[in-house]
Amino acid sequence: MEQEKKKRILSGIQPTGTFTLGNYIGAVRNWGKLQDDYECLYMVADLHAITVRQNPADLRRMTREAVALLLACGIDPEKSLLFVQSHVPAHSQLSWVLSCSTQFGELSRMTQFKDKSAKHADNVNAGLFTYPVLMAADILVYNADLVPVGADQKQHLELARNVAQRFNSQYSPTFTVPDPYIAKAGAKIMSLAEPEKKMSKSDENANAFILLLDEPDAILRKFKRAVTDSDGEVRYAPEEKPGVSNLMTIYSCMTGKDFAAIEAEFAGKGYGDFKTAVAESVIAELAPVQAEYKRILADKAYLEGVLKEGAAHANAIADRVLSKVYRKAGFMQL
Ligand code: TYM
Repeated sequence: MEQEKKKRILSGIQPTGTFTLGNYIGAVRNWGKLQDDYECLYMVADLHAITVRQNPADLRRMTREAVALLLACGIDPEKSLLFVQSHVPAHSQLSWVLSCSTQFGELSRMTQFKDKSAKHADNVNAGLFTYPVLMAADILVYNADLVPVGADQKQHLELARNVAQRFNSQYSPTFTVPDPYIAKAGAKIMSLAEPEKKMSKSDENANAFILLLDEPDAILRKFKRAVTDSDGEVRYAPEEKPGVSNLMTIYSCMTGKDFAAIEAEFAGKGYGDFKTAVAESVIAELAPVQAEYKRILADKAYLEGVLKEGAAHANAIADRVLSKVYRKAGFMQL
């Protein structure tokens, strides 16, 4: 019997520093789990990273570290394609074509653009504005069916869908219209210091986030300091108790326990015990990731081999789609 063709997945992460627990729970951890059932392509989005100022030597180092960290988190190059965005020129080439099918007004509505331009008011560059078009190109250049991301990327995904549909109707059916793949639990891990805000590595307060390479004592300390509330009850109520609910979400994602089980486990106990348990569950989950990371980062030849292979395959797929797009757009061919 003929095997059903696997659906294709694409996702990416910016190499702007060590990933947070939010990146891990909302995205990267799920990427590993999808590898057996889908054809997966995962990339380190270095082109996106320069929308805010980067030191070139640091960006190169962080890109290598991001690749090592993805491998340590379980991305298996025997199963998935792993590559660096700037190694596949078709992303940028398609981005230009798609930018001519994207309206100024729709880019102006992107909340991430509004947030980032407020945060980097001295550098509101055109790349920051057209960032979602490049992201659409990342996805459409592989005709990906599904895009596993955290909740904060949903609006960008909707834009990618609109652009795909617009191009398809303006020319002729060309792109697969991608679906977001947002996990029910953990799609938005909140700051430990201000639980109304998303956990983000660019937060000025280092106690607001857990990094995947944080030492166990730092992880314990940050969870012990996490903002909760004064009623002392471990109960899931995101509106009323955002801090405790966020910690419960993290604990649930680490242990597989549901909220009712967690409430029962800590009934009558104080937040101290609860916070220690959350920290220990995270420390246990991250220990093997941290050990693998050190081993992989030291193996330069292996890392380069993975990236060369990844880039070669990714370029082969992307170039086919790009040349189809160029033909449809009416570019003369030699
Ligand atoms: P980035 O690098 O900001 O984040 C990578 C992934 O982590 C998710 N994430 C979170 N999930 C849950 N809770 C949080 N606090 C949290 N913080 C981040 C993000 O939703 C994301 O899935 N534009 C993208 C990178 C990108 C991309 C793409 C993604 C470039 N091209 C194409 C998908 C498809 C970004 O900046 O992610």
